[in-house]
Amino acid sequence: MKIIGTGRANPAKIVTNAMLEEFLDTSDEWIRERTGMTERHVISNEKLEDLAAEAARKAIEDAGITPEDIDYIICSNVVNEYITPGLSCIIQGAIGAKCACVDVNAACSGFIYALDMADDRIKSGKAKTILVVAAEEPTRMVDWKDRSICVLFGDGAGAAVVTEGDALICSRLTTVSKTECLHYVRTLEPTPYITKQEESKPMFMNGREVFKTAVLSSSRDIRTLLDKAGLQPGDIKYYILHQANMRIIESICGQLKLDMSHFPTNVAHYGNTSSASVAILLDELNRDGKLHKGDKLLLSAFGAGFTTGACIIEWTK
Ligand code: ACO
Repeated sequence: MKIIGTGRANPAKIVTNAMLEEFLDTSDEWIRERTGMTERHVISNEKLEDLAAEAARKAIEDAGITPEDIDYIICSNVVNEYITPGLSCIIQGAIGAKCACVDVNAACSGFIYALDMADDRIKSGKAKTILVVAAEEPTRMVDWKDRSICVLFGDGAGAAVVTEGDALICSRLTTVSKTECLHYVRTLEPTPYITKQEESKPMFMNGREVFKTAVLSSSRDIRTLLDKAGLQPGDIKYYILHQANMRIIESICGQLKLDMSHFPTNVAHYGNTSSASVAILLDELNRDGKLHKGDKLLLSAFGAGFTTGACIIEWTK
């Protein structure tokens, strides 16, 4: 496959660190030093499906195609108001496409899993042009009284249109079942037969454990892919990493002995938008004219599961 268009949409409400100081025992200094974040976009009166559809429309416009040209939609999403139908089905209706749709939940690695699935579907000849959307509202999963977690997240959607091509040089997906490290549990409807204890709880995350695992696994994925492609770290124009924490990105940069010019970031302004983060950053680079034909990009993300996804893509637009 190759990427022919990108888009993004973020909620209008911007919550600064100073605004968090008003109701949490935290400080702008702590948040900036520990995470690199200064502000984040947070859903207020918007619906996630509207942001997802807006990102999709922009990607379709950027690709110079129409919704009728799309023959599959994959949406990466962890939570939204609907348990069912999938967000991909709602996006299909909103943009006026007529094709099969599916949602994928690989947590923050989801956009890369979805790109990989799109490549498989195109390779198999089952689809020609696929819309991949990553839309997330992690701010609805966390306890806003817990300073150790709510400051970290923001909401948003990113999208890419992919079609036939050979720009996906290689990819790597891994999963290690490690639910104790990061999870979010909701109760379902009661039945007359349920006897087990159930309780809804906000997202739980062992921050230090996630930090260590993220740096190790992302660095391992990057090295594996560079070896597979026969490339040196400096051959990659941009490492487009999951925007979870500036210190994680800097640690990975340090492991590769590169300077930060290869590591574009937007975590300062968006926070961690889960699987949307890589898609949003890709769109920013595209729209800012920073991507040129032939550039090699390495996308890498990690998330609950514990999942990781990484791929090397040549920019062909
Ligand atoms: N403001 C002020 N103090 C705080 C805050 C806050 N917002 N949050 C925690 N603290 C305090 C703690 O209470 C602790 O105080 P103590 O020493 O008196 O006990 C102190 O700061 C240090 O806390 P740590 O948790 O050790 O801080 P750390 O340097 O590890 O940073 C952080 C925490 C930012 C969560 C870091 O561990 C991290 O980024 N982990 C990875 C998180 C991540 O990437 N998550 C996403 C992964 S997957 C996905 O995207 C869903």
